[in-house]
Amino acid sequence: MVALDIGSHTIKAAMAEVVAIDQINVLGISSLPAKGIKKGHIVDIEAAAQGMEEALNALERLTGVEISGALIGFSGTSLSTLNNHTVVAVGTPSYEISPEDKNRVLHSACTISLPPDKGIVQTVERQYIIDGYDGVKEPIGMVGSRLEAEITVVVAAIAAVQNLQRSASRINLEVEGLVFNPLLDCEAVLMPTEMEMGVALVDIGGGTIDVSVFERGSLLCAAVLPLGGEHITRDLAIILKTSLQEAACLKERSDLNYSPAGDDGDEDLIDIKDVQGQVGRQVSQQLVTEIISARVLEIAQMVYAELRQSDVLERIPAGIVLTGGGAKLTGMTDLFEEYLGIPVRLGYPDRVPGLAGEYRKPCYGAVIGGLICAARHIEPHKIENKRGLSSLFDRMGEWYKDFFR
Ligand SMILES: Nc1ncnc2c1ncn2[C@@H]1O[C@H](COP(=O)(O)OP(=O)(O)OP(=O)(O)O)[C@@H](O)[C@H]1O
Ligand SMILES: [Mg+2]
Repeated sequence: MVALDIGSHTIKAAMAEVVAIDQINVLGISSLPAKGIKKGHIVDIEAAAQGMEEALNALERLTGVEISGALIGFSGTSLSTLNNHTVVAVGTPSYEISPEDKNRVLHSACTISLPPDKGIVQTVERQYIIDGYDGVKEPIGMVGSRLEAEITVVVAAIAAVQNLQRSASRINLEVEGLVFNPLLDCEAVLMPTEMEMGVALVDIGGGTIDVSVFERGSLLCAAVLPLGGEHITRDLAIILKTSLQEAACLKERSDLNYSPAGDDGDEDLIDIKDVQGQVGRQVSQQLVTEIISARVLEIAQMVYAELRQSDVLERIPAGIVLTGGGAKLTGMTDLFEEYLGIPVRLGYPDRVPGLAGEYRKPCYGAVIGGLICAARHIEPHKIENKRGLSSLFDRMGEWYKDFFR
């Protein structure tokens, strides 16, 4: 299987073979600079297609396997979630809940009025309630007279999804599924106990930050903030009058826990190049750390505001898991923890046993999660009793066809 993560900063492509259910062997990952993508959305179809093709070509060279299709993970500032709760009366005289009853309650839960430019791209079944008893993950075959469904729907700009599809068709890539990134990230990065207890997953990318909350094993809500690691880089470049490349290097070498060694401040100075690439100036490491910390604090404030606005601060006893390339900044978790007063950890794609060290990076969470989901998708008979994403995949074909008719 192949998964692609269409990021604003880099496009990642990964390939794996399925060894057994829930066990994949990652054969390779390629990561190339993204083109034509801003804040998760395609702004130039040709350039985005070229970026995808380059990532796939690199993966083909790495693995020696030809690629024809992929599951695509995406995000973007047009994405958001809505929660809905509906009730139907069970239709069969024996009160055994049939697939039709389940379809009816789901269909009714998905009947949400949306602006004409928005569409539902994903449906997550959080739980069913039968005759008042909650926590049911699969209602078919159970007995009851009243069936309720609680779902979370992922809503996106229809144009954003269609542009993604068009980019893929430019390179003749068969799109095997399009999944909102947090639903992939969680598969690779979050522990099942965290997802059960309640946890916030914060994916800090280049141009966006996906803030998603999981509870009782499934997605409760998510929002995409128009901010990311590139904003820190740009701020550094502007204030220090240097190039973006130089600023990115400075950022990646920085440690937010840095404090000057002595009063003389000598070892505090670092050489930086100007915008033209000429070496000539020195800046203090402390200044660099202060600029980055100010931006990270702003990110932490926005994440906190988002969690508070969604009214979920009390629902994340497992704390916050930071992931995405931007979360690799040394000292970021400490700063978040200090500001939010909640346990914060760095999330790696640890749910794949035996993953090679070079692929164990926060920025690969979504693409590896894509492989985990794709593996489940190709073995549907083995996942009958699985919930959440697998059932999402079962229906994916239908919404997907509707979307691109
Ligand atoms: N060691 C590091 N320290 C700090 N930042 C880093 C480090 N490595 C990568 N980054 C930053 O991570 C960001 C890219 O992360 P990632 O690859 O997850 O983004 P993306 O998925 O392409 O973007 P998005 O999710 O916003 O669409 C860049 O801003 C990059 O500077
Ligand atoms: Mg990303």
